[in-house]
Amino acid sequence: MNRYVALEGIDGAGKTSVSNALALLIEEAGHEVVRVREPGGTAVGEGLRKILLDGPPVTPWAEALMFAAARSQLVTEVIRPALDRGAWVLSDRSVYSSLAYQGAGRRLGMDSVRRINRPGLAGTWPEVVVLLTVSPQQGLARQARPDRIGSQGLQFQRAVAEGFARLAGEEPERFVVIDGGCPMEQVVAAAWDALEARA
Ligand code: TYD
Repeated sequence: MNRYVALEGIDGAGKTSVSNALALLIEEAGHEVVRVREPGGTAVGEGLRKILLDGPPVTPWAEALMFAAARSQLVTEVIRPALDRGAWVLSDRSVYSSLAYQGAGRRLGMDSVRRINRPGLAGTWPEVVVLLTVSPQQGLARQARPDRIGSQGLQFQRAVAEGFARLAGEEPERFVVIDGGCPMEQVVAAAWDALEARA
């Protein structure tokens, strides 16, 4: 049962529109859907979001720890209770963003970033990760208003994209990789087919 579904991709991959369409399909199939975004979704998380995305310079480890803190709060307050009552959770980003952005992009190492996230999540982990791929150039061009992390430049986005690709290769049973450059209906249909196939 794949009830905790995370949408992932580099900045500008088009996650939000796909997430909107998937939420409708899950609801039409008769399930409650709880939608969250990372970082955010709780009072603490939204406070950290401001610091992380619009705030002053932050060291790579402080950044990784703040993303992990926001995530722990979100899992405890929102995601775990939703899953426990049988709802689906559709999340815009997840711990896999930390692995790709802080682990690969900031070069902290994916294993180290995994280690600092695990204790705060107490076993709550995305069952399916829908990874939308776009080229880093395309992603940068599509960003409406780049935030502190989204404006790190092409090399950074490349490293993040490579991080996501490595993760998808390591965990093929969890990842659904879809070309985000395809027309939206195709992307949504491919994501929905994959979710149904895994249900
Ligand atoms: P967001 O506004 O959600 O951007 P997008 O629309 O691209 O998803 O901002 C999230 C930004 O934070 C994005 O640049 C990715 C980054 N991020 C991390 O670096 N690590 C993380 O763990 C998460 C959740 C996000």
